[in-house]
Amino acid sequence: MAKRVVLAYSGGLDTSVAVRWMIEEWGVEVVCVLVDVGQDPDYSESFEDIRARALAAGALDFVVVDAREEMAAQFCGPAIAANALYEGKYPLVSALSRPVIVRHLVDQARKFHADAVAHGSTGKGNDQVRFEVGTHALAPDLEVLAPARLWGMTRADSVDYAAKWDIPIKATKEKIYSIDENLWGRAIECGEIEDPWAAPPQEPYTLTRVTSHDPVEVSISFRAGVPVALDGEEMSLGTLIKTLTDRVGAVGYGRLDMVENRRVGIKSREVYECPAALALITAHADLEDLVLEREVHHEKARLQIRWAELVYDGMWFSPLKEALDAFFAETQVHVTGDVRMRFEAPGLGRVVGRRSPSALYDHDLATYDAEDSFQHADSEGFVKIYGLGVKTWAARQGAKNATPPTS
Ligand code: ARG
Repeated sequence: MAKRVVLAYSGGLDTSVAVRWMIEEWGVEVVCVLVDVGQDPDYSESFEDIRARALAAGALDFVVVDAREEMAAQFCGPAIAANALYEGKYPLVSALSRPVIVRHLVDQARKFHADAVAHGSTGKGNDQVRFEVGTHALAPDLEVLAPARLWGMTRADSVDYAAKWDIPIKATKEKIYSIDENLWGRAIECGEIEDPWAAPPQEPYTLTRVTSHDPVEVSISFRAGVPVALDGEEMSLGTLIKTLTDRVGAVGYGRLDMVENRRVGIKSREVYECPAALALITAHADLEDLVLEREVHHEKARLQIRWAELVYDGMWFSPLKEALDAFFAETQVHVTGDVRMRFEAPGLGRVVGRRSPSALYDHDLATYDAEDSFQHADSEGFVKIYGLGVKTWAARQGAKNATPPTS
């Protein structure tokens, strides 16, 4: 059994109770690590309050790691290159933050000479998979503990447990929603959202409340597939994501309401708000329409689906995911240019223009006007040969599809 454990600590009820529970049940020492991936941008609580809670719960130590720019550059960046939308919709908000957290948990486990890491996820979700598979990929020797999967406490039991041990928590017995957030967006579950027929409630949204009815136009510049500037102003990817979230979230853009397939075989109804993620992926994909050669583009579209599934399924650190990243990196070399998007309340956003020095769009080939440089006569032979197989087939079959059905 482990002696010293590094816990992924959020400061919330479950991970606070987990500190004391592991000490009592397993006799371990617990180090709490809070990885800042951009959750709760207003910081309604300071890290000092959270440190005090961790120590009150019995932690040996408490560490905060600022991983916001790391998450942006090394996790959101590749997700943009992959136009990553799980099941065609979800930009992997929680799935992208877990490997960032895992990397720092493992790093802190080494620094504190721990023999295990722990997380507060339950047995029903994807996050346990991401924490555990991720840790095993980076540190096969470390044990992974999941107290919340074992303790069998309801939320009310946990609140009582915290009171019994004098752990100062803000949570009450009636918490309606389970929310996970980071700079890529917010994932909201539970409460009335669990009824897939019920329209999503308005209260849990924070990033996409309509605060303005003025249309917003933004020009997003990309360099080799990476967003580097808004309206011509260069900034770090972390700052760009935050700035775009505020600008386009203000007209209500960026909400999703979906039923998704979890890795553990459960269908769940979830709502998300992820304005920057959806805007950047939409803009990036549009720029690729302009610059990628057709066969690369079509093949990439197939592989993107696989990449999103792997990341959703906790396979961030895996050989197939790495190989796909290498393919995508090769495709991004010329994905440089600007995309103009317009957003309007409530919640509409679309691309209205794109340009690139690497555009494969050739006006003189595309135009039907006088500048047309396309050799129309060349098409005759091309079309004949292209359709030859079908023509031969149809001749053998006696053109059996030629007669419309009689009504
Ligand atoms: N269903 C999403 C995912 O698996 C969101 C999970 C959110 N996690 C949470 N603890 N509320 O990526």
